[in-house]
Amino acid sequence: MINIALPKGRLGDSVYSMFEKIGLECSEILSNTRALVFEVKDKGIRYLLVKPSDVAIYVERGTADIGVVGSDILAETSAEVYELLDLDIGKCNMVVAAKKDWTDDLDLPLRVATKYTRVALKYFEEQSRPIDIIKLNGSIELAPLLGLSDIIVDIVETGTTLKKNDLVVHQHIMPISARLIANKSSYKFNYDKIDEICKKMGELV
Ligand code: PRP
Repeated sequence: MINIALPKGRLGDSVYSMFEKIGLECSEILSNTRALVFEVKDKGIRYLLVKPSDVAIYVERGTADIGVVGSDILAETSAEVYELLDLDIGKCNMVVAAKKDWTDDLDLPLRVATKYTRVALKYFEEQSRPIDIIKLNGSIELAPLLGLSDIIVDIVETGTTLKKNDLVVHQHIMPISARLIANKSSYKFNYDKIDEICKKMGELV
């Protein structure tokens, strides 16, 4: 049995449709029950629906053999997993955003609100810019609006959330996309099965 961790939410549907296209369909997943585990016994696979930010943890610890995760999460967690394939979906950008008229006052530490504290620390460390990191868990765009932070480090997909909150992109940090990842031991022990999935997925990209 191969355990596959799939992200719930925005990315979930497009990821699932890729598995469907390579013949690993499980129509129950689309039935919107609250179930989180789906077995496709005749194909020898089990899907685990997890929070996108938790996929890499399940795979790193071997609870899932493979999974699909955004490269933003990989950059933030530095999970010890094999990155097998760029799936070319879930594409967005990691950016520095702030109010339009924001200018950096180099006499003060820069107050940065973000979910991605490691990414932000690394990015500004490379620029030798001291920062005061403010870890938030969502609705990051509120922070500069309310004066909690000077800027945010966050992902932008359509740009709608920034626009609606009067923020603009000031710097691009990196492009993001979904990756197929594998647990390091599972990859050795289940090489044939995982490689077959990876090759078939590769043909769709
Ligand atoms: C993400 C991100 C932005 C938004 C960007 O938030 O943190 O807020 O999506 O998308 P857009 O450019 O298409 O508007 P998410 O929807 O994951 O919710 P969150 O605020 O709980 O992090």
